[in-house]
Amino acid sequence: MLAPMVVSAAETSPAIPRDEAIEAKVQETLARMTLDEKIGQMTELTIDVCGHFDNAGNFTVDEDKLDEIIGKYKVGSILNAPGTTAQTPAAWEKIIGAIQKKSMETMGIPCIYGLDQNHGTTYTAGGTLFPQNINVAATFNTDIARTAGEITAYETRASATPWTYSPTLDLGRDPRWPRQWENFGEDALMNAEMGAAMVRGFQGDDPNHIGPNNIAACLKHYMGYGVPFSGKDRTPAIISASDLREKHFAPYLAAARAGALSVMVNSASVNGVPVHASHELLTEWLKDGLNWDGMIVTDWADINNLYTREHIAADKKEAIKLAINAGIDMAMEPYNLDYCTLLKELVEEGEVPMSRIDDATARVLRMKYRLGLFDDPMTYARDYPKFASAEHSEAALHAAEESMVLLKNVDNTLPLAKGCKILLAGPNADTMRGLDGGWSYSWQGHIADKFAEQYNTILEAMQNKFGEANVVYEPGVVYDDHGNWQQEDASGMQKAVDAAAGVDVIVACIGENSYCETPGNLSDINISRNQLELVKALEATGKPVVVVLNEGRPRLISEIVPEAKAVVDIMLPGNFGGDALANLLAGDANFSGKLPFTYPKEINSLITYDYKVSEEVEKMEGNYDYDAVVAVQWAFGYGQSYTTYAYSNLRVDKAEFGPEDTLTVSVDVTNTGNRAGKESVLLFSSDKVASLVPDGRRLRAFKKIELAPGETKTVTFSMPASELAFVGADGKWVLESGEFRLQAGNQVTDITCTATKRWTTPNR
Ligand code: BGC
Repeated sequence: MLAPMVVSAAETSPAIPRDEAIEAKVQETLARMTLDEKIGQMTELTIDVCGHFDNAGNFTVDEDKLDEIIGKYKVGSILNAPGTTAQTPAAWEKIIGAIQKKSMETMGIPCIYGLDQNHGTTYTAGGTLFPQNINVAATFNTDIARTAGEITAYETRASATPWTYSPTLDLGRDPRWPRQWENFGEDALMNAEMGAAMVRGFQGDDPNHIGPNNIAACLKHYMGYGVPFSGKDRTPAIISASDLREKHFAPYLAAARAGALSVMVNSASVNGVPVHASHELLTEWLKDGLNWDGMIVTDWADINNLYTREHIAADKKEAIKLAINAGIDMAMEPYNLDYCTLLKELVEEGEVPMSRIDDATARVLRMKYRLGLFDDPMTYARDYPKFASAEHSEAALHAAEESMVLLKNVDNTLPLAKGCKILLAGPNADTMRGLDGGWSYSWQGHIADKFAEQYNTILEAMQNKFGEANVVYEPGVVYDDHGNWQQEDASGMQKAVDAAAGVDVIVACIGENSYCETPGNLSDINISRNQLELVKALEATGKPVVVVLNEGRPRLISEIVPEAKAVVDIMLPGNFGGDALANLLAGDANFSGKLPFTYPKEINSLITYDYKVSEEVEKMEGNYDYDAVVAVQWAFGYGQSYTTYAYSNLRVDKAEFGPEDTLTVSVDVTNTGNRAGKESVLLFSSDKVASLVPDGRRLRAFKKIELAPGETKTVTFSMPASELAFVGADGKWVLESGEFRLQAGNQVTDITCTATKRWTTPNR
C-alpha cells in the first residue's frame, strides 16, 4: 500500500534578518554614487599593488598608487598580506590606516580589508595560531570551533582588519586533494555544525551589528571544490544532483543561516560549469534560494580564469559579463584595473544590466554597514589587550590536545613512563613548519620556524616533558627547506637506526612538510619512500615504535602499521602541537580526538564513510564471483583513549514516526576504565531501503561529554525526522516511509517512518 504524502509550504524567512535602518542607509548611499564608484565597490585588489618593500623588508603604502587605485578607480576592497608575509599589528595599523584615510577622503565609503586568517591569525605576527580546521573537526566539539572563531576575530580586529576568508567548508572527501586539511573533514553534517559554530565565533550572534571584537566570515569555496575528479587542486568536479544538494550545499546552508555575511566561490567547475559563471548555483541556489542578502566574492583571479583556463569565454570582457551576470558581486581581480574599464563598457553597452550593478554594490555596502565600518573604518591594537594573551594560548593548546587521535596502542605502549629514554626521529620532530602547515605566517607556511620560534617543536616539548637527557634526537630523514616541500635528505638514516640501541622507545614523527593549494598537488598518495624505509628500519631494531603522523591529509602508511606499537595522528595542530603531544604521550592529558575522515589503506580504496551500500558486496552465489571489498586503515569516527567506554540502552521515544515528528534518541555511556576522559558520542542512521541506492551510514548528530571513571551519562539527541530525508536523483528532498536503523557505539535500534514526504522547496 502506498504511504500518504505530505507536502510542505515554501520557505520565506531570510537567512539574515533584514534590518530596515541599514537598508535605508544602503539605498541612500547607493543613490548618490556614480557608476565608477559602484564598479569600484565591486573590485578587490591585492595589497602588493598598493605599495613597495624597502631595503629593510618593510612594506609601505604609496600615495601615488592609492591616488590611482582609490582616487581614480574608487576600489572598495584590498586583500592579503604584503608578499604573503605576516605583519605586526602596528604594521597593519599603518598599512590599513593609510588605505582607510584615502577611502574616506575620496568617497566617504570605507574600504573592506580582507585576510586569510584561516586558523587563527595566519597573517598577524605574534598572534594566536589555532590547529587547522581538520583538527578542529577531530575534536568533535563545536565549542572549540566557536572559541577559535572568537579569538581569531578579536586578534584580527587588533590587526585593523574586519574580514576573514574563512571558514572553509568544501568537504575534505579526497585525500589526494592538497586542501583536505583546510576543511572540517569529509562529512556534510560535521562541516555544517563546525562551520556554523565558527561563523558565530567570528561574527557574534547579530549579523546586522558586528561589534568591534568581531569580523565578517567568508564561507569558501562555494561549492564542490573538494572533490576534483583528478585529485588535483582547481580541476573539474563531477557531482551528482543528489550529492550536490544533500552534501556539498549543506554546510553553506547551515553557515548562511548562522548569518555568514559573505561567500567565496570555487575556483574550478562542477559538472562542466565553472562555478564563477553558474547563475544556477550563485543566484538561484544561494542568493534567491536562501533569501540571503550577503555578498559573493570571486576567488583569486577567477574571472580571468574563465577565459585563460576554463575556456568558456573568448576574452576578459566576456568572462566579466558571464561572472557578474551569474551573480558575482566583487572580483578578487587581484592585480589589474582593466576589469573596472571593461565592466563599465559592458554596462554602457547594455550587456550587464544596471540593476545587477546596483544589487552587487548594495550587497557590498550592506556588509560594510553591518560591520560598522562607516562609523569607524579602523580598529587599533591598543584597544585589544588580550591579543596573544595566555588565555588565548591556553585555548589553542586545549584545542590541539582534544584534536589528536590515538589510532593504535598495543601492550600499553602509551603513555610513556616518565623516566624512559626516547629516540625522537623523523623529519617532523623538530619543525614548527610541520606543526603549523600552510596558511601560517605565509601562504605556504614556509617561514613558520622564524615567526614561531618561541613555541615548542615536538623535540623541544618532549625534552621539557621527559628531561633533555632522556630524549635523543636523530631525525634520520629531514626536509630540505630550501627546495620543493616534498624534497628530503635521507642521509642520516643509519645514524637514527644506530641511536635506537640506547633507548627504551622510539617516537617516529613522520608526515608532510607544509604546503598550500596547488603546489601541494601529489603524484603519489603513499607517504614518502624515505619515511617508510626509516620507520621500517626503526621497527626492525626491535624497540617499540610510536608513529606520530603530522600531515595535512592521510598519506598511505599500511606498510608500517602492523609493526608499530602505537600510532597517533596529530594532523596540523598549530603552535601548541608539540606541547599537546608531549602532554598526551606522557599521560598528563587523555586522548579524545576521533578521525573526521576515513584513513585509507589502499590506493584503490579511497572512499568516504558514507559510501553507497553497493560499494561493499559479499560474493554472489553461483558461477560468477561478483564482490567488492572496502578496505580502510581506520574508519571515520575512530579514535582510542587511555580509558574505555561502554554504550548501552540506545532508545528512541517513537518506534514509528511521521515526517513532521521530532525523535528523541538517548544512549547511556559509561566510563569503564580507570581514568577520566572525554568521549564524542556519534549518532548514525541507515536508510534500509530507498528509491536511490542509500548511503551505508550517515552521521546525524554528535556530542562530546566528559566522564569520571565509573561514571555513566545519558546523552540525548533531539532529531527532527526530516534529518533522515535524502535528495533523490531529481535533486529534490524526500523522506520515504520504511525502516531506518540508528546506531551509537555498538548499539543499534530500528525505527519505522510511516509516511513519505516530498519537499516542494529546494531546502528542508
Ligand atoms: C585561495 C583562497 C584564498 C584566496 C585569497 C586563493 O588562492 O584559493 O582560499 O582565500 O586565495 O588569499
